Amino acid sequence: MKTYLVTGGAGFIGSNYIHYMFEKYGDDIRILNVDKLTYAGNLENLKDVQDRENYTFIKADICDSAAIERIFQENTVDRVVHFAAESHVDRSIKDPEVFVKTNVLGTLVLLNAAKAAWELPDGSFMEGKRFLHVSTDEVYGSLSEEGEYFYETTPYDPHSPYSASKASSDMLVKSYMDTYRFPANITNCSNNYGPYQFPEKLIPLMIHNALAGKPLPVYGDGKNVRDWLYVMDHAKGIDLVMEKGRLFETYNIGGHNEKQNIEIIHIILDTLKELLPEGDERRALVSEKLITYVTDRKGHDRRYAIAPDKIRSETGWEPETPFAEGIKKTIAWYLANEPWIENVTSGDYQKYYAEMYQNR
Ligand code: NAD
Ligand code: DAU
Repeated sequence: MKTYLVTGGAGFIGSNYIHYMFEKYGDDIRILNVDKLTYAGNLENLKDVQDRENYTFIKADICDSAAIERIFQENTVDRVVHFAAESHVDRSIKDPEVFVKTNVLGTLVLLNAAKAAWELPDGSFMEGKRFLHVSTDEVYGSLSEEGEYFYETTPYDPHSPYSASKASSDMLVKSYMDTYRFPANITNCSNNYGPYQFPEKLIPLMIHNALAGKPLPVYGDGKNVRDWLYVMDHAKGIDLVMEKGRLFETYNIGGHNEKQNIEIIHIILDTLKELLPEGDERRALVSEKLITYVTDRKGHDRRYAIAPDKIRSETGWEPETPFAEGIKKTIAWYLANEPWIENVTSGDYQKYYAEMYQNR
């Protein structure tokens, strides 16, 4: 039985990945979820797996080398899937330091702990060990409005402190592969959406605000393009790279689903109107009139678009969830899980929201 050390498993993508893995492998794998539980980490995301015998949660900061080394000493870890990060671009513009700490130093701590645990006396590595570093398409920078795509060979050109910190962490992983032949892969994925996403990000923020009749803040002209992928399709891609990807390779993961932000907002409003039952008083609040153009994000990347040719040809991965289906499932999930959203938006989120949007 293989033991997976998943970092950041209480966050959005990490928790969906853990669900995906237990659905696929059941009792045939063991998962150790290592998470600091920042504002973005929520154990409620994992309540339906928390009692499994093959699941363990460990509260730890990936920057704490003693804690991370202890986890490797006390467990036979076969695979690391590294999600833990500060993930929100707007927060990185306001407070870059924690992004460098967690995303860069935290990744270094993990690499060192895995290397120490897996390295043999002759400098080679134990058979079957693998480290998968989950990264982003934002490291490639911004595309023009015509049909260009990000490939694995596209030069890095990060613009925000977030993407610079992710690019740095990718370079560290690459340096360990190149220097030590450390057994790793890097995946660079486009924008994810789905259940359990924290409402600071575009899609859940718009759903949450529309249901409350609050303004829908559109940065700039609303025509920036993102390439949206349903989170379970990303989870599947990560698993396929782990199983079938060639060691030391980078794989881009994306759904060829490019949409302008303003299109996304209209789709959300239309879907809310369709899914809210007759007689639900929130129907009257959901309206195009809420759309409010606000000051643009500083350094706002114009367009992201992934060419997933390599992962497709080498592992057979395909994005399976059409956007029309994925967004309906996502909105239905938020409608059915109001206590979750109430819980994560109480307290600090209110302060964050007031500060982040007051001058826009
Ligand atoms: P998230 O913000 O929802 O979750 C991050 C998780 O990491 C949280 O559970 C948090 O508690 C944990 N964490 C943060 N700092 C930590 C620390 N120092 N030690 C231990 N745990 C810590 O993020 P997400 O959207 O799920 O993204 C996960 C990963 O995927 C990130 O590395 C991100 O860069 C990458 N990614 C995200 C997207 C996207 O669209 N969300 C797309 C491509 C890549
Ligand atoms: O591309 C992958 C990246 O996608 C991940 O690496 C990041 O972790 C993830 O947060 C996401 O980054 P973005 O900056 O693209 O996502 P966000 O949801 O913050 O914004 C999506 C687009 O919507 C972007 O063009 C900015 C715009 N936006 C966002 C918010 C929060 C608005 O217009 N209004 C808003 O209030």
